[in-house]
Amino acid sequence: MRSAPDNEAVDLLARSMGGPSREVMALGTLLKSRLGRFHVLDLGSGAGRNAIYLAGLGALVTAVDASDAHVEALNEIARRIGVDLTAVHARAEQYSPRDDLDLVLCHGILHFISTPMALEVIARLQSKTRLGGIHVITIATFDDKNHIPESFIGQSFDGALRPQHLVQAYDGWRCVAHESYVKRDHHPNDGYHLHPIEKMIFQRPGGEDTAALNVDKHRLLYGDRPDVRTFLQTDKLTRTSSAAAIAALGPPDFSFTTTSAGTQLSFNGVREQGHELVLMFWAQHAAYFENDVLVGYSVYVSDCFHTFHSLSRPPRLET
Ligand SMILES: C[S@@+](CC[C@H](N)C(=O)[O-])C[C@H]1O[C@@H](n2cnc3c(N)ncnc32)[C@H](O)[C@@H]1O
Repeated sequence: MRSAPDNEAVDLLARSMGGPSREVMALGTLLKSRLGRFHVLDLGSGAGRNAIYLAGLGALVTAVDASDAHVEALNEIARRIGVDLTAVHARAEQYSPRDDLDLVLCHGILHFISTPMALEVIARLQSKTRLGGIHVITIATFDDKNHIPESFIGQSFDGALRPQHLVQAYDGWRCVAHESYVKRDHHPNDGYHLHPIEKMIFQRPGGEDTAALNVDKHRLLYGDRPDVRTFLQTDKLTRTSSAAAIAALGPPDFSFTTTSAGTQLSFNGVREQGHELVLMFWAQHAAYFENDVLVGYSVYVSDCFHTFHSLSRPPRLET
């Protein structure tokens, strides 16, 4: 018989990636209003920060992870929070999903798989996605010499997926958003580190039920802000409020807020009732506040930030 998961380990895993991603919060709400119940596959779900959020919205969520510890933690967290989802212990390479997926998340997983195999996984996911379905793919890359410190390039995984592979793999789909940034992050028991991130969102076109995802592009002011860099790079993460950041740096050029009711995972564990994520941009520097605590900092490489405002049936052509 399997032993009960250790509470401390579960709490640590719950905290390790923070709360749901802002695009998942936005897309979940839009899909719910458009479809009611919808089917989600979260591949490489970890402890389930996105899966838990979507299940809480009422989505039918399958979370798949190769780590036994993550699957156990996810089941335990879902039980504690009181949401229903299916957590599967499997490798993405071998997993065969159901064939009516509306939303597929691959956040931080495909760069761990060799490119030919990752492309096979993507092709399988595409064939199991409904017309109008959405894929959110987030990969880490290691080869942008202009933005990644030498020490980080050394950790490169040879043969890992690159954005150009995704562009080819999603030929015929609509590329809804592509953002590149380098995120400074921290996890419990693990110091500060950098994640060079490529986030790409694709929508499968076509079909009677297709609803086009409408996107706003917010152009970021180009240029460095050394004061922002210095302020956000010192170890103020987890201690700074948005008011303190504004007092030090002045009002942001642009800010974006997304909220959800109910309990979510967050950097503070699973205790939070309700979840608010605020992104504040000063030029290409973005600070992330979870429930008004600074939890992350990115420098954007791409010049746009995308928000999603509706999922509407495309206008019918008059005949
Ligand atoms: C960086 S974490 C991201 C977790 C989660 N997607 C999130 O955003 O919080 C990557 C996850 O992918 C899982 N993983 C890595 N390789 C995998 C594979 N081949 N198949 C399934 N899961 C895998 C790891 O166990 C880990 O939980």
